[in-house]
Amino acid sequence: MENKQVVIPQFGEPEVLTIQRSVVPEPKRGEVVIKVAFAGVNPIDVKTRAGLGWAAAQNRENLPWVLGYDVSGSVYRCGEGVEALEVGDKVAGFIGFPLQGGGYSQYVTVLESALSLVPDSVTLEAAAALPLAGQTAIQALDKVSVQEGQRILILAGAGGVGHIAVQLAVAAKAEVFTTCSEANLDYLATLGAHAINYHFAPVSERVEEADALVDLVGGDAALDALKCLKDGAKVVTVPTLSAELICEKAKLLGFEATGMLVDPNREQLDAMLYLVSIGLLKTEIYHVYPMDQVVDAHIQMETGHTRGKILLDMQC
Ligand SMILES: NC(=O)c1ccc[n+]([C@@H]2O[C@H](COP(=O)([O-])OP(=O)(O)OC[C@H]3O[C@@H](n4cnc5c(N)ncnc54)[C@H](OP(=O)(O)O)[C@@H]3O)[C@@H](O)[C@H]2O)c1
Repeated sequence: MENKQVVIPQFGEPEVLTIQRSVVPEPKRGEVVIKVAFAGVNPIDVKTRAGLGWAAAQNRENLPWVLGYDVSGSVYRCGEGVEALEVGDKVAGFIGFPLQGGGYSQYVTVLESALSLVPDSVTLEAAAALPLAGQTAIQALDKVSVQEGQRILILAGAGGVGHIAVQLAVAAKAEVFTTCSEANLDYLATLGAHAINYHFAPVSERVEEADALVDLVGGDAALDALKCLKDGAKVVTVPTLSAELICEKAKLLGFEATGMLVDPNREQLDAMLYLVSIGLLKTEIYHVYPMDQVVDAHIQMETGHTRGKILLDMQC
């Protein structure tokens, strides 16, 4: 049985992405082999493919390298000592982060302890949309300790991280303001946020006295958003490239500010899968690309204007 994987043989444009054929891996002790149904595509995949960021820097000598951190699928084989999972179970996970990757594979080995069971009422598409983006949303909201009644500003509410962060902040009974382009205004309003068109005017002209900022854009948009905050507000800036600059400026203005690097946490994925299963959280899937159209998937991700998530269908 062959195992098709999407690899980067060298860093570069989306066209460098190549399908490699290998054998289905054997599980070691405590591991299972997942037959991957869907792999999530994240901005870090695109940056790493282009040779940018620390995942690329660390893997310069490891090419060809298999991208991908988000998977959903079914257990195909169990290694010795696996207790909680059985062949056929539906699972999802945030795997190989940050240096190993491996998610853009038809079959991949993962420690059973890193995997969540996907409830029957949750689709494998929804499960693949949640791991990296959803855990980033939870951890970013934790950093600003979002609370009932607070006014929270989330930049880029329509993206992979943003659409989950908006829903979780609304569920925590915060008053949520978020930025987007015109095409996403209605979508974000239906999630319960005050949606603000950032093309129309800077957000600083539309929001004031916010208790917290979750920045998913960085750069000038984040610097402008600092003007929306009240004294003592908390800031988390998620894009790593501009984090140092934003934190420095925010601290000069007297705010508590931090960057972050998402940390895989199975319990957080379990919690989100549960919320999806009872209808309290909805994933937005922009498009599912067959794995052999991965180049188009990366081109779409690079637009920076994907609503929700992009997935790869790994079995067609
Ligand atoms: N530090 C970490 O651990 C970590 C983890 C995850 C993600 N990240 C980073 O966090 C950022 C967000 O990730 P993501 O997965 O949510 O990205 P994404 O899905 O690619 O975000 C796309 C969304 O960004 C919105 N957008 C683009 N420019 C905007 C602007 N100027 N103002 C407001 N919205 C804007 C778009 O909405 P419109 O089409 O409406 O403009 C689109 O819906 C990325 O930079 C990513 O690399 C960091």
